[in-house]
Amino acid sequence: MIINGQEVESCPGETVLETARRCGFEIPTLCYHKGLGAYGGCRLCLVEVEEGDRSLLAASCTLPARPSLKILTESQPVQRARLHVLALLLARCGPLPVLQELAERYGADQHIYPRLQEDDCILCGRCVRACEIVGAKVLSFTWRGSGRKVSTPFGRFSEECLGCQACVNVCPTGAIGVHEERDGFTLIRWKTEHQYAMCRFCGRPFVAYRFAENFGKFLKAHVRGFRGTDHFELCSSCRRSLQAGKMSEVTIKR
Ligand code: FES
Repeated sequence: MIINGQEVESCPGETVLETARRCGFEIPTLCYHKGLGAYGGCRLCLVEVEEGDRSLLAASCTLPARPSLKILTESQPVQRARLHVLALLLARCGPLPVLQELAERYGADQHIYPRLQEDDCILCGRCVRACEIVGAKVLSFTWRGSGRKVSTPFGRFSEECLGCQACVNVCPTGAIGVHEERDGFTLIRWKTEHQYAMCRFCGRPFVAYRFAENFGKFLKAHVRGFRGTDHFELCSSCRRSLQAGKMSEVTIKR
């Protein structure tokens, strides 16, 4: 296909965004995450698709790459749309570092729209998709319009939360705060408390207890001959030392 007048080759299954980025074209994104699949929620990755003498704007993260596509990533309509998307996000969230950086890079006016809300969440849905992939499926979108938000069922503490912190790691704005304590942590946004599992050797906390317990059960049930109890009872450095010890024993015996 053609991007900004340059002929490029896409790989099977790629989206326009992936091809463009692989070929060195810069397209900003917020809701896109390589490991989570496409969602198309933030609209920051809009590109112009030319079809004959007509053209339309489309989200490049959900648009499958195919031959004969003609894409513009920096045309006037794209730049105008990008600035409006950024201005709307700033009106919703205020000057979050990630938004401010994008606004400065693309020259968005931070004051076009009055401040509507003070919410760090940009509704990109990364946390929802991560929670689904992990298998807990605790998070989902609730309500409609300006009241839309990401929440646990009925906005309450959920027993199903594993404490894996996948949601925290994929959030682009840092909206899901974590309050750390000695024996555990709280995911502030979901009001969910977790206890740490302590390493059997060194006694240090290393992973959420519920996560270790559930993942251990899952592997035992699904992986034939799985005997890796060490994974859920030892922290990574004690596990490594133990493995190194076992390996050197084998080497000595030989
Ligand atoms: S990155 Fe494409 S819509 Fe958000």
